[in-house]
Amino acid sequence: MPRTLSDMAVEVLTTAEGRQKTALSRRHAAAWFAARRGDAAAIEIGRADPPLHPARPAAPQLLSPRDVPRRRPGSPAGRIALLHAVAHIELNAVDLHWDIIARFAEIPMPMGFYDDWVKAADEESKHFNLMCDCLEELGSHYGALPAHAGMWRAAEDTAEDIMGRLAVVPMVLEARGLDVTPGMIDVFRKAGLTSPVAALETIYAEEVSHVAYGSKWFHFLCGRHELDPKEVFHTLVRRYFHSTLKPPFNEEKRAEAGLPPDFYWPLTENEADANPA
Ligand SMILES: [Fe+2]
Ligand SMILES: [Fe+2]
Repeated sequence: MPRTLSDMAVEVLTTAEGRQKTALSRRHAAAWFAARRGDAAAIEIGRADPPLHPARPAAPQLLSPRDVPRRRPGSPAGRIALLHAVAHIELNAVDLHWDIIARFAEIPMPMGFYDDWVKAADEESKHFNLMCDCLEELGSHYGALPAHAGMWRAAEDTAEDIMGRLAVVPMVLEARGLDVTPGMIDVFRKAGLTSPVAALETIYAEEVSHVAYGSKWFHFLCGRHELDPKEVFHTLVRRYFHSTLKPPFNEEKRAEAGLPPDFYWPLTENEADANPA
């Protein structure tokens, strides 16, 4: 049994197989919360060296986004491809949440920071398992199709900047999930597939809190360093996120997660267009 939370994080990050990774992640989360409730000995945050890239299973094959074949979402193959893409996102999200814990362990943070990311990692683990169950119900499985190779880029780009990490991962990438998930739920509802609808509704409900954790701890660090949150957010997203943000936005869920419109709307244009000389 690893002794510190950082050791637990590294153990998850270095486990390759998806279901094994998520089972371990859920066990470590349960152990952490048992200790936090006082039902077990306290667990230190500790220090450990997370790998630059988490371990990945032999399949799926990872391709550059432009080489991942597109399928019509209205077809059975398209629906399987959609679930497969979400499973891949969830598996990366498990690693992203454990990575922020181990990567920045030398920065003193309140215990609530660790509680939030352990809870998020636990939920992503559940989400991955739900997507795998749905794929298997439709006669497929995670690994049957190629997947995007670029998902860890945001983690690499922000490996030395905790505020950049919070800005790009929960507040840009996970917030994007809030924008697109209702449309995905519709695809499966129209096809009369109840398991994916239920699974995606669980994911949709729980992802709001992941974005909210990002916003909460981003604002916390801005307060610590006496920085203007909106300005720093714009600077960091422009530095680390290699694209503009794409509307339409789910303004209601973003607001619920603590992301006001003046954080994301200015990032729909690049700086040169926004500030013409
Ligand atoms: Fe998720
Ligand atoms: Fe998430």
